[in-house]
Amino acid sequence: MIRAVVRGIGSYLPERVMQNAEFANDLGLDTSDEWIRERTGIQQRYIAAHGQTTADLGYEAAKKALAHADCMPADLDLVLVATSTPDLTFPSTATMIQHRLGMSHGAAFDVQAVCSGFLYGIHLASKLIEAGAHKRILLIGAETFSRILDWDDRGTCVLFGDGAGAVVLEAEEGSERGVIHSVIRSDGAHKDMLYVDGGPSATGTVGKLRMLGNAVFKHAVKDIAGIIEQCADEADVAVTDIDWFVPHQANQRILVAVAKRLKLRPEQVVSTVASHANTSAASVPLAMDAAVRDGRIKRGDSVMLEAFGGGFTWGACLLRY
Ligand code: ACO
Repeated sequence: MIRAVVRGIGSYLPERVMQNAEFANDLGLDTSDEWIRERTGIQQRYIAAHGQTTADLGYEAAKKALAHADCMPADLDLVLVATSTPDLTFPSTATMIQHRLGMSHGAAFDVQAVCSGFLYGIHLASKLIEAGAHKRILLIGAETFSRILDWDDRGTCVLFGDGAGAVVLEAEEGSERGVIHSVIRSDGAHKDMLYVDGGPSATGTVGKLRMLGNAVFKHAVKDIAGIIEQCADEADVAVTDIDWFVPHQANQRILVAVAKRLKLRPEQVVSTVASHANTSAASVPLAMDAAVRDGRIKRGDSVMLEAFGGGFTWGACLLRY
């Protein structure tokens, strides 16, 4: 049996750090550091420099993942980029990064599932590897959500940041490690709760993010807990036997509520929301990379990744690192 093993991981954050206090002090919004910390757990976020694009962030994360995997771009046969903030409507951000890596072989395309994009990407990549269609896939989650925020809307602009994370997934025959099971879901009925009010075909504009945060919160907790249980059940693994949980980093209160429902120990749940805020499709690989770098997640540990986002979309993936 062929498994998709995480051979390497890397991430990149832009230089500029934006503190919570700047929303009130510099943008004149009716908010405070205290409100943002208390209601979300967010303390700061990283913001891409003027002219720095999603492909730029994704390329930096890709180089780090390739170095960690001890791989060259020549070794890859597919580049996938999970993003909802592509550089251009087309060509895909993936082909731009492919070119930047010096690859004129293989294929590249974008995956769009908003904050669940990385989970959709790992589901797809692992299936392609298991089917024997690809041997080594670079999967990147990269976003510049700062470009689609309404900076006058205190209910959304305080929540998001920019960044990128990447993994190199490799086919390994008979491995104990790698992706064990993954599940993806979507339901378009709730579009009005979380969407961007523009697009090439509907308005000819890029649009700004709109969200009914409170309603999304309730769906997120229920659906994330449900899909983690489904993924573990289908893999015949008890949730309580999993070593690490790497959630989408939207709100610390969502992480805590899900952990409570599933009776997880707080120290098993990797949280980077305080320093990264919500980086959409980049948040899971950014958080996983942080826990790999600081030595928490070790080779052979079991890891549950999960995410929830616009669509609604949601997903979970159990792997052995
Ligand atoms: N500062 C001060 N007050 C604020 C702010 C702010 N930044 N934002 C909202 N408020 C106010 C509201 O206006 C409201 O005031 P009112 O009572 O006078 O009407 C009050 O705070 C409470 O608002 P709620 O929306 O009920 O606050 P809540 O506790 O739900 O927190 C939040 C809001 C942080 C958005 C939360 O609901 C949340 O995290 N939701 C989920 C986000 C998420 O998971 N999104 C999915 C992924 S994102 C993606 O896919 C792109």
